[in-house]
Amino acid sequence: MLKVLTYDNISVAGLERLPRDRYEVASEIQHPDAILLRSHNLHGVPIPESVKAVGRAGAGVNNIPVAEYSKRGVPVFNAPGANANAVKELVIAGMLLAARNICEAWDYARQLEGGDDAIHRQVEKTKKKFAGFELAGKTLGVLGLGAIGVRVANAATSLGMHVSGYDPLLTVESAWQLSSSVARAASIDDLIAKVDFLTLHVPLNDQTRHLVNGARISIMRKGAVLLNFSRAGIVDDPRVIEALDSGHLHAYVCDFPSRAMLSHPRALVLPHLGASTVEAEENCAVLVADRVRDFLENGNIRYS
Ligand code: MLT
Repeated sequence: MLKVLTYDNISVAGLERLPRDRYEVASEIQHPDAILLRSHNLHGVPIPESVKAVGRAGAGVNNIPVAEYSKRGVPVFNAPGANANAVKELVIAGMLLAARNICEAWDYARQLEGGDDAIHRQVEKTKKKFAGFELAGKTLGVLGLGAIGVRVANAATSLGMHVSGYDPLLTVESAWQLSSSVARAASIDDLIAKVDFLTLHVPLNDQTRHLVNGARISIMRKGAVLLNFSRAGIVDDPRVIEALDSGHLHAYVCDFPSRAMLSHPRALVLPHLGASTVEAEENCAVLVADRVRDFLENGNIRYS
C-alpha cells in the first residue's frame, strides 16, 4: 500500500485518482510516500524520511520549501493553469467591484430603513455618491503573462479595455494564446506608468518580493486600481496603504487578508478565494494526484 498524507481539503475528484486497493489516503498517517496539499505551510515542518513526492493542488509553491525537498530528491508537482479560469473570473469581478463601488453601495443598501417608498426616496437622494466608472475604454496592465495573466488579458479586451502586458519570461505557449489586441510593454515601469488598472500574476520568489514598491506605486496614474491575486509579498503593503490614504490609488483589490488591509476602507479584501471554485479545485486535485501517482508507480516526472 502507498500512503498519502493530505493537508487542506483536497477535492474528492483528485483523491479518487488514487485507487483504494493500492493507496491509503488520510490527513494523519505515519511514514507517507507522498503529500498532497493546497496552501498548508510546509516551511519548518520536518520532511518525513519516507516521502517520495509532493503534490500542490494549485499553482504557487511558495508554501513548500522546494529546494529542501529537491536536495532530498523529492519532486514537488503543482497544477499550473488548472485553476486559471477561476482566478481570471475573480480578477474581472474585482475590477468591477472597484470601478462601481459595489462593496460600499451594498453596505449602504443593507442599512436602509423604512418601507419600500422610504427606501426608494433615500436611494434616489444618495445614489450619486456611488457613481463609478466603466471598464470599457480604460487601460489594464497585466504583470505576468502565464496561464492566468493571459486569460485575464484576453478577457479584458473583450470588455473593451485597452490591455498591455509584461513578462520577461513569456513562454511560446503563452505568446500563442495571447490575443493580438494585447500590447507588450517594454518594461515593468513602462507598463505600470500607463494603466488605470494593474493586475499582478507573478509567483512569489526572491525576484518578485515587493516588486510593487513605493517607487513603482508613485509612477502609477493617480486614481489607478491595483489588483493582487498572486501573493501578498509581491506588494509592499505599507506603501499601498499610504497611496490609498493619499488618494493616489483609488482601490486595492487583494486576495490575502492582513489586519492593516482589512481595516482600510479602500482595500477590497477577499479570503484567498481566487482558486476556490468547484471546477478549479477538481482540476487541480486531479492533475496533481495523477502526477504524483505517475511518479510513484512509473517514475515519470511531469511538470507540464
Ligand atoms: C494557487 O496558487 O493556485 C492557489 O493558491 C491555489 C489555492 O487556493 O489553493
